[in-house]
Amino acid sequence: RAFRDPHRPRFHFTSPGGWLNDPNGLSHWDGVYHLFYQYNPLAPAHHRIHWGHATSTDLVTWTDEPVALVPGTTGPDRDGCWSGVLVDDGGVPTLVYSGRHGERELPCVATGSPDLRHWTKDPANPVIAAPPEGVDVTAYRDHCVWKEGDVWRQLVGSGIRGQGGTAFLYESQDLRHWRYVGPLLTGDASHGTAADLDWTGTMWECVDLFRVDGTDVLAFSAWDEGATHHPLYWTGRYEGDRFEPSALHRLDYGQNYFYAPQSTRDAHGRRIVFGWLQEGRGEEATARAGWSGVMSLPRLVTPGPDGALAQAPVPELARLRRDHVHVGPFEGDADLDAIRGDQLDLETTLRLAPGATVRLGVRETPDGAERTVVEITRDPAGTSGTLRLHREASSLDPDVDTAPRHGDLPFGPDGTVELRVLVDHSALEVFANGRALAARVYPTRPDEATGVSLTTTGRATVARLDAWHMAPIETAPRPLWP
Ligand code: FRU
Repeated sequence: RAFRDPHRPRFHFTSPGGWLNDPNGLSHWDGVYHLFYQYNPLAPAHHRIHWGHATSTDLVTWTDEPVALVPGTTGPDRDGCWSGVLVDDGGVPTLVYSGRHGERELPCVATGSPDLRHWTKDPANPVIAAPPEGVDVTAYRDHCVWKEGDVWRQLVGSGIRGQGGTAFLYESQDLRHWRYVGPLLTGDASHGTAADLDWTGTMWECVDLFRVDGTDVLAFSAWDEGATHHPLYWTGRYEGDRFEPSALHRLDYGQNYFYAPQSTRDAHGRRIVFGWLQEGRGEEATARAGWSGVMSLPRLVTPGPDGALAQAPVPELARLRRDHVHVGPFEGDADLDAIRGDQLDLETTLRLAPGATVRLGVRETPDGAERTVVEITRDPAGTSGTLRLHREASSLDPDVDTAPRHGDLPFGPDGTVELRVLVDHSALEVFANGRALAARVYPTRPDEATGVSLTTTGRATVARLDAWHMAPIETAPRPLWP
C-alpha cells in the first residue's frame, strides 16, 4: 500500500512501513554500512519503539534486515528501545541505547552476532541506574560512546533544570560499569528563547562528539518539551573532561525536518551523517499512507572555509543519475522546460551581484498554483546572503505544513553559489555553499507538480545548470523478524 503513495521517496531510505525516526548505530563494519533506526513496525506512529535495521555496501542501495531490538515484555526497555550507538568491543558488536520504562529512559547494552542480525540484551540492564545524583534533569537519554586508550567514554544527552541542555560524561572499562565524570558542556537556556533558530534549548537530544580534521564538533538536537526541535553543533576543542566551545552553528536550516542526526567515520576516513526527515502532512494523511519518516541522504561532512562544517550528499549518489540535461551559461531567467520530474538532482553554479536574487522553482504545476521555491539572495553589501525555502505554495492542502525556512549563506567576493537541490517526491534536500536545508513538500496534484523554473532579480548569471533524473533504489526485502 505504502508504495502506491506518490509522496513516498524513491531514492531516500524509508522503512518497509510503519514509523521511522532517528538514525541509530551508524557504522561501517567489515565493509558494510549499517543503518539502524527508531522504528515502530506496527503503525505510522511513535509508539513502543524498536530498532529497525538496513545494510548497504555503497550508501546508495539498501537491504532491509530483521528488526534488531524489540522492547522487552519486562525489563528496563519494556516501553521502547530508544536512540543509541554501535561500538566495536574487541570484535563484539555492542549497542548502547536508551531503554524506556514508563516516562524514563536509562542506558542499556546489547551484544550482536558477527553479522549484526541477532542481538542479546545484557541481563545487567540498565547499566546506569539513574541520572547523576543531586542533579535535577529535564530528561536523560541518547548516547555517544568511544574509546580512548583502554577507557570507554560515554556522553548521555540531558538538561539541567534552570540552566540548559547538557551532555553528561561517563567512563568505563567494560561498557557495563560507568563512573560519572561530570558535564562535558552545559548550554545557557536563558540565552535566547524558543523563537530563536539557534536557541540551545532545555535538553540536548542525540549528542554526538566527533572530530573533522583539526576541529572538534559537539552536535546535538535542541529540545524543550515544546515546539523546539532543531539540530545544532558547537565547534571547539575537546580536551580532558571538557569541551571548550568556540562557535555555535545550525546544522540544517530545515530545523525539525533534519532532526536527531548521528554520524560515523567510515573505513575511508570520511565523516558521514544521517538525519531524520519527519513528516509535514497531517496525522490522518500519515495514518492513511501507512508509513512515516524518511532517512536523509548520507551526507559527507568536511571543514568549511569559514569555520562551519560543509555538507554535501556522498558522491556515491551520483550513480543514480540518468538522462543528463545541461543548460547555461545564461544571464537572467532561464527556460527549463526540458527538465521536469519528481525524482531529480539539480546542480548549478550561480553568480550573484550584490543585491541579486535567484529563485529555483521545483514541484511546480503547469498553472503555477503549487510550487516550492529555493531562493538565494546576496545582500547589498555583498559579503553575506540568505538561503530560503518557500513552501507557502508547495501544497493547497490546508493540513500540510507550508512554513518557510531560511538561514545565512556565506558568499565569496565573486558572488558564487554552488547550489544542489535533490527532489525525491515529498523529500527535499538543498545544499548551498556547504549549508544544508531539508524539508518535506506535498503537492495535492503530485503527478502534475513536476515543473522546474529559474528566475532572477538584479544581476545574476547561471554559469551552468546540470539536471538528472534519479533512478529509484530498490530496497531488497528480508523477513522482518529474526
Ligand atoms: C529524538 C528522540 C530521542 C529519543 C528517540 C525516541 O528524536 O526523541 O531523544 O531517544 O527520539 O524515539
